[in-house]
Amino acid sequence: MRKPIIAGNWKMNKTPYEARQLASALVPLVKEARCDVVICPPFVSLGVVKECIATSNIKLGAQNMHWAESGAYTGEISAAMLKAAGAEYVILGHSERRQYFGETDETVNLRVKAAIAAGITPIICVGETLAQREGGETDAFVTGQTGGALQGLTARQAEAIIIAYEPIWAIGTGVTATDAEANETVGVVRRAVAGVFGADVAQKVRIQYGGSMNPKNASSLMAMPEIDGGLIGGASLRAEDFAKVVLY
Ligand code: PGA
Repeated sequence: MRKPIIAGNWKMNKTPYEARQLASALVPLVKEARCDVVICPPFVSLGVVKECIATSNIKLGAQNMHWAESGAYTGEISAAMLKAAGAEYVILGHSERRQYFGETDETVNLRVKAAIAAGITPIICVGETLAQREGGETDAFVTGQTGGALQGLTARQAEAIIIAYEPIWAIGTGVTATDAEANETVGVVRRAVAGVFGADVAQKVRIQYGGSMNPKNASSLMAMPEIDGGLIGGASLRAEDFAKVVLY
């Protein structure tokens, strides 16, 4: 059985002071969670959030990282820095990073390998645009993104990663994929993993759904057999809402 994992992607929201308030409010609300719980604040709040969740069941994640170990990469953060700050997870290849910051399957793959080498679990995002869905290209596109991100991994490494299937048209729009649509495409992603690493590995990989997941739709999405969790943007910014999702 795959243990569900629900992660909050705070994106570019919350000052360190606000991050402390949100994380502290969350701790008592999610302590009965049956799933793994992760929150991913901006870099500058990793430290304060880590303090707040130190003795709780909440784990820390970051939203991005560079693949190099160190060096002349102004503005970037390395895997070792995240690890030292207490991050156990890192979101990689989010569609906003691909769209606004030029990330590609190749650079996502470099990041994935660097995260694993540092002992951080990557949460790798894949997902199609509305035009691709309407053009019938979804399955081929997410299969390609999945294969690209996992290139060069061993089976042991691959089975421990997390993938988030996030249709771009559902992110931040209030439009969620239907339970069936989400389940079907998460299944496509799982078959893509199976195609590279075999069915055993694919059965172990946890695949989240993301895109306007909220307290109202979480339980029915989480009831779908292929969906192993959620990557939550907007609804992770209020402790009560995120707690309701986590306790689906
Ligand atoms: P959303 O974002 O829940 O606000 O749609 C999800 C994400 O982008 O990870």
